[in-house]
Amino acid sequence: EKGGYDYFMLKEIAEQPQAVADTLRGRLTDSGDLTLDEVRLTDQDLRDIDKIFVIACGTSYHAALVAKYAIEHWTRISVEVELASEFRYRDPVLDRSTLVIVISQSGETMDTLMALRHAKEQKARVLAISNTNGSTIPRESDAVLYTHAGPEVAVASTKAFLTQVVAVYLVGLLLAQVRGIKYADEVAAVVQQLQKMPEKISAVLATMEPVRELARDLASAQQVLFLGRHVGYPVALEGALKLKELAYMHAEGFAAGELKHGPISLIEAGTPVVITVPSPRGRAILHDKIVSNIQEVRARGARTIVIAEEGDEAVAPYADHMIRVPHTPTLLAPLVTTVPLQVLACEIAAARGHDVDQPRNLAKSVTVE
Ligand code: M6R
Repeated sequence: EKGGYDYFMLKEIAEQPQAVADTLRGRLTDSGDLTLDEVRLTDQDLRDIDKIFVIACGTSYHAALVAKYAIEHWTRISVEVELASEFRYRDPVLDRSTLVIVISQSGETMDTLMALRHAKEQKARVLAISNTNGSTIPRESDAVLYTHAGPEVAVASTKAFLTQVVAVYLVGLLLAQVRGIKYADEVAAVVQQLQKMPEKISAVLATMEPVRELARDLASAQQVLFLGRHVGYPVALEGALKLKELAYMHAEGFAAGELKHGPISLIEAGTPVVITVPSPRGRAILHDKIVSNIQEVRARGARTIVIAEEGDEAVAPYADHMIRVPHTPTLLAPLVTTVPLQVLACEIAAARGHDVDQPRNLAKSVTVE
């Protein structure tokens, strides 16, 4: 049941620290070694991989986009990300040394299943990331990594997404470990940081009251735009998808650098623009660029809603609303920056009088192509 919450979605948002902890449990040893028992691929299989595809739909596709940034950086294996519904209708280049990672919360999404079958016909090895034991996609895959989010009832995916992101980090770290690591120190540090994420997500959840207030204020907006760079880009897409599906509002996520190539003309006086800012302790150029993007949209009249780390004062002068998150290394940031966007979408939808758990025209699991 809803456990005292108005919606399953709110309950599932609140369960995220636990879901992330459960997905990490038993898979990271204290010495930093990774154990992924359910991955039935030998170390040799993993060493032979020379290319990775990550395939999914909807929110799971956004987890796939995060995978590209993390896995390429840690392993130097090239990663292509594709929507399942597009993958098999072109002529993707894959063979025995290709690893295809399919991500599906339900394990029953038809588009993803058909992409998996297509990959297997081409002799690629398939690893499923799924939240549903014994569902079709894991059953038909060569290996499985289950996310332990627990049942997700609300149509909008929240805790499943965060655990999918954790799962792709685990796969990336495992590959890095098995193949010899370019960034050995960094990977060890990431393992430590991952263990701290449940606590950081709890800290974000504890500070959501101003976001709820802001949501009520934004309920009458015509559109909301979301911007991000690097892993902040998939987070922007995810924030926009949540708002579209729940609040039936025009919302778009953009790579912040693309704005000047067209979408900036959408901005009018008062248009809410949500920007996620990478850690100022990460690559300075990434942080500087996003600060200029915030200034750019503000100069065109946007109302800027900035999600930035505690202590990041460089962005403060350009933020109409500031949402603070704890310090997190750049690649892991989606685990904290997505959370306020989920709350925002949920509360805007509720304020607009919609059924948050059962948005119109949508099903929890899409079993038609
Ligand atoms: O079960 P799956 O992960 O395969 O589902 C994929 C999408 O249908 C799903 O993520 C959808 O986009 C969500 N409703 C988004 O909140």
